[in-house]
Amino acid sequence: MQKEKILVIGASGQIGVELTLALRKIYGNYNVIASDLREENDLLKGTGPYVPLDIMNKEMLHVQVIRQNITQIYLLAAILSATGEKNPNLAWNLNMQGLLNVLDIAKEEHLHKVYWPSSIAVFGPTSPKINCPQQTIIEPTTVYGISKYAGEFWCNYYHHRYGVDVRSLRYPGLISYKSAPGGGTTDYAIEIFQEAIEEKKYECFLAKDTYLPMMYMPDAIRGTIELMESPADKISIRTSYNISSMSFSPEQLASEIKNFIPDFSITYKPDYRQTIATTWPQSIDDSIARNDWNWKPEYDLKKMTKDMIENLSK
Ligand code: NAD
Ligand code: SER
Repeated sequence: MQKEKILVIGASGQIGVELTLALRKIYGNYNVIASDLREENDLLKGTGPYVPLDIMNKEMLHVQVIRQNITQIYLLAAILSATGEKNPNLAWNLNMQGLLNVLDIAKEEHLHKVYWPSSIAVFGPTSPKINCPQQTIIEPTTVYGISKYAGEFWCNYYHHRYGVDVRSLRYPGLISYKSAPGGGTTDYAIEIFQEAIEEKKYECFLAKDTYLPMMYMPDAIRGTIELMESPADKISIRTSYNISSMSFSPEQLASEIKNFIPDFSITYKPDYRQTIATTWPQSIDDSIARNDWNWKPEYDLKKMTKDMIENLSK
């Protein structure tokens, strides 16, 4: 059997760093090639190969795939919700063309698998707020959400029309401490920890009662790898799976942090990101992922907060 050789695109980002390190543990350091437009993240240095790559340059991407005998691609390069609203054309171009470049090359080179994440941002103000189901009214209002929803259907199309084994998860807001977040609406749930530890205070850009679906990075990485390692006949969703673990508001997160840092205080100054957050569901129904490939989160708000504070305090 041919050995797997994996290319991670966007490897220096919030998810990319941790996913690359996790994949290197499974597949071997030299079988997982990290790539990004920006320089190699410090945490990746010395752990395996790195190539600079612009996902918009399809020819160069194709050359790398052939030269390195790539069999799988994890495509993480994208512009997230908040940054996307500042430059809608750029977000649309990168998020769409990047995906189409990868899907075309996967088709031509008969890659074994492709991973591409979607987001809870596909949902809009007309979607159910509580336990938002997999299939429901989906009318996104951000350019990021529109690009993710269109991307889901391109994945579905390439799977059914050309047999490309592309798999996807609709991540909620991801919380982590190893690499910085890239401009999302849920980034407050990361900044708050840093500020609580360093300054004992935080000004939140969302209102105190803004409930959003969230997930701790170890769960997201494990879920991604479990999805990718599941037999193809277990994958019933070829757009993108709902996946969920916890939901909380800034007020609830602040109160949990106070259990560890009693003199921490929070103030609220909602900005344009509040408008985005208000359109998203408060919680997600992920029963199809649970049934199809046994998805189960391990971290709740309490366990995640404890782990974040312990690690950031080191
Ligand atoms: P990030 O912004 O931290 O990382 C993206 C990486 O892509 C960056 O390192 C950036 O330099 C790189 N990149 C940008 N343009 C590129 C290009 N032209 N060529 C090559 N690389 C380029 O984002 P992230 O949080 O790690 O998100 C990764 C994926 O997961 C994205 O598709 C995002 O939409 C999705 N997602 C993330 C979250 C979250 O909370 N982090 C939630 C839902 C979905
Ligand atoms: N965390 C992401 C964002 O806020 C959700 O896709 O943009």
